[in-house]
Amino acid sequence: MNFIKNVYADESALHLAAAEAIVALACHCVAATGRFNIALAGGNTPRQTYALLAVAPLVRRMPWAQTRVYFSDERHVPLEHPDSNYHMALEAMLKRVSLRSEQIFTIPTEHDDVAACAEWYNDLLHVRFQRRTDRFPPFDLVMAGVGPDGHIASIFPGTPAVTEKQLWVTSCDPLSTNPKVVPPVKRITITPPVIQNAGHVFVMATGAEKAQAMAGVFASAEPLRPPVARLLRRCNGTVTFFLDAKAVR
Ligand code: 6PG
Repeated sequence: MNFIKNVYADESALHLAAAEAIVALACHCVAATGRFNIALAGGNTPRQTYALLAVAPLVRRMPWAQTRVYFSDERHVPLEHPDSNYHMALEAMLKRVSLRSEQIFTIPTEHDDVAACAEWYNDLLHVRFQRRTDRFPPFDLVMAGVGPDGHIASIFPGTPAVTEKQLWVTSCDPLSTNPKVVPPVKRITITPPVIQNAGHVFVMATGAEKAQAMAGVFASAEPLRPPVARLLRRCNGTVTFFLDAKAVR
């Protein structure tokens, strides 16, 4: 377990630090291997970080030509829908930077069957990373948000996604265990072993409603009801947290 816990007094400092850390890691990976494979997080929290990557000075320092963009999770809505994680990243960053469409690998959502969407992305990752099925893709960076219920990416508590050990991508229905999930749609998500195999994981969480889940991740003793995000403790790579003071107690 290699945790780096950064806590910021205000959100603008948090987003600037996260954006600078992405650029630094991308430059390091490109210098070492010639490429940077990132899986973007959805939700609202990373929006401002993405926006900073699309403007000066960071937009000029980011090695866009060597960057391949994937997604950690997606909502089962059309990609042009405002609730789509891709749509959020597109508006905040992707459409403003020098990325060709061949460098962006969206999670498909057009199939009515969410499991088929997950299978398609699972197959795409296998083709892209050319690994045997008993191994997991070596993302340079997986970005992931955490929910108040302790979910990470779209691995929601009580769903089979939590215990998935073979697949790289799966689907889940968060409403099966929590009818109050917003937006109330099924999800497609990378699985725990994919997060745990990444070189780096950046976790962004702000606000008091995330504090209980974060405390469960950091607790040295196993909490009575461990949050799903506690799977971060079994990451092979470095997990860097970007938290505001309210998310820490
Ligand atoms: C989703 C999101 C989800 C998100 C967290 C945090 O599809 O629901 O990707 O996993 O990252 O719920 O969301 P916020 O950043 O909006 O708080």
